[in-house]
Amino acid sequence: MKRMKENELNYLTPFLAKWMSDHDFPFTKTTKKVSTKDQKAQLAMALGILKQANSSGLIKVLKEDQHPIAVFLSMKAKFPRIRGERAFFFEYDQRHGRKALVWVRTTIRDFGKQTPRYTRIGISKMEDAVLAKTLKEAGFNTKYEILYGKTIPALHALIKKKNPPLDLHHLGLEIKALQTLHEVNLALRLQKIVFSAEPQHGYFAHTATSLRNDRKEYLRVIRKKRGRILGVFKNKKMLGFMGVIIQENPDVSSKSAGFTFCLHPSVRGLGVSKTGYRILLSYLKDMKVVEFSGGTSRPEIKSLGKLMKREMRYAIYVKN
Ligand SMILES: CC(C)(COP(=O)(O)OP(=O)(O)OC[C@H]1O[C@@H](n2cnc3c(N)ncnc32)[C@H](O)[C@@H]1OP(=O)(O)O)[C@@H](O)C(=O)NCCC(=O)NCCS
Repeated sequence: MKRMKENELNYLTPFLAKWMSDHDFPFTKTTKKVSTKDQKAQLAMALGILKQANSSGLIKVLKEDQHPIAVFLSMKAKFPRIRGERAFFFEYDQRHGRKALVWVRTTIRDFGKQTPRYTRIGISKMEDAVLAKTLKEAGFNTKYEILYGKTIPALHALIKKKNPPLDLHHLGLEIKALQTLHEVNLALRLQKIVFSAEPQHGYFAHTATSLRNDRKEYLRVIRKKRGRILGVFKNKKMLGFMGVIIQENPDVSSKSAGFTFCLHPSVRGLGVSKTGYRILLSYLKDMKVVEFSGGTSRPEIKSLGKLMKREMRYAIYVKN
């Protein structure tokens, strides 16, 4: 396979860095200009990605008038959650969006069934409209939608349309915030069991790395009060947990939060998640967190998302 030379990689780097930064920020309201330090970091990241693709896969470039307007990489990923897995990655000059996407589509078609397991993190709605059919044909059978919602409108819509109860006594279940290390360990054990059985609904949630990271995250949530994790118990047995984690992102002008749900099959289909949403969204309202997000391939969450007026901003396609 033909590798790119170092000078070719260096030439391509600032283009990719710029496109990645443009791609990342359409929804993030940055409060300050990108600093020189951040620019350097973006260049380093872009060069790292190109080198990784050059050594572990391939790089294709689309040009117009001699200038690159899009790159397409097939590579062994280094991104945290899918490290070591085969993935696609593409980026382009937004001014040539349509042309670039048609080229990306043809490139994916050329791969046929040889496509890797993951697509780039973050296919936008517009990209999805152009690529969805081709991605399906290429064997990507699961679509994770990254849904965003506004706390107060979502809470109001949920109460108006479903009015979920604030507790689960009618089901003989208790719902209470996790507080101890022991309870966090119980939650992680459940997470491993639930997502090992259905990895198509959380492609990384059961892996050792994720469980280790989530342990840190859940403990941080509890100790620093940066969110809330609710356990669902029958007698003393934990049968589920539902959590919200407040993100500390200094670049974003308002606070945001991410949701996570993990119910044992025995307590699904009973409305538990709606009660969870109601309690956790009320908590976010009290904490003045304006926006929340979460990735899902679950029809239940997508359907509740519609009801709560959540919007899909990105998608990730995976082969399961
Ligand atoms: C996903 C999960 C949280 C759903 O929770 P739940 O309490 O079982 O959800 P429910 O069955 O009460 O469904 C909630 C709503 O989804 C809708 N729904 C249910 N099944 C659906 C389906 N197959 N297609 C579309 N919508 C559906 C319904 O509108 C339902 O509300 P309603 O009964 O008031 O109309 C739960 O199944 C779970 O934890 N699964 C395992 C872990 C997991 O996959 N987590 C990832 C979540 S992103």
